[in-house]
Amino acid sequence: MAYSDKVVDHYSNPRNVGQMDKTLDEVGTGLVGAPECGDVMRLQIRVNPETQVIEDAKFKTFGCGSAIASSSLATEWVKGKTIAEALAISNTDIVKELALPPVKIHCSVLAEDAIRAAIGDWKKKNHVAETEGAV
Ligand code: FES
Ligand code: FES
Repeated sequence: MAYSDKVVDHYSNPRNVGQMDKTLDEVGTGLVGAPECGDVMRLQIRVNPETQVIEDAKFKTFGCGSAIASSSLATEWVKGKTIAEALAISNTDIVKELALPPVKIHCSVLAEDAIRAAIGDWKKKNHVAETEGAV
């Protein structure tokens, strides 16, 4: 199967690979797995408590090229966004941007799930209501 140029770009040169200290209050960590293939993705965000703006994001993905590209793109997209704006990112945006074929759609779902899980973790740690900032 041929990967799109954008997938190859993110796969060969992934943005924001790394890890943050998950014990910090301002850091939210999402760890999700894809039942379809067993791939695992960890996405972390660092949120400004005053503005709820995501100031930094990091990821580590054990998975296929599309999953790595999806998470790399997701970290780029969430940076500079508020929690509410980041929650509006959907896997279909990722599918479009990376031109993922149908068989690779679940890789983008993994990235959306990882963003939501990271935000959920941050909200829980900071006692922000689950519904606050929801769209
Ligand atoms: Fe093997 Fe995703 S199915 S890496
Ligand atoms: Fe499973 Fe890509 S093949 S995440």
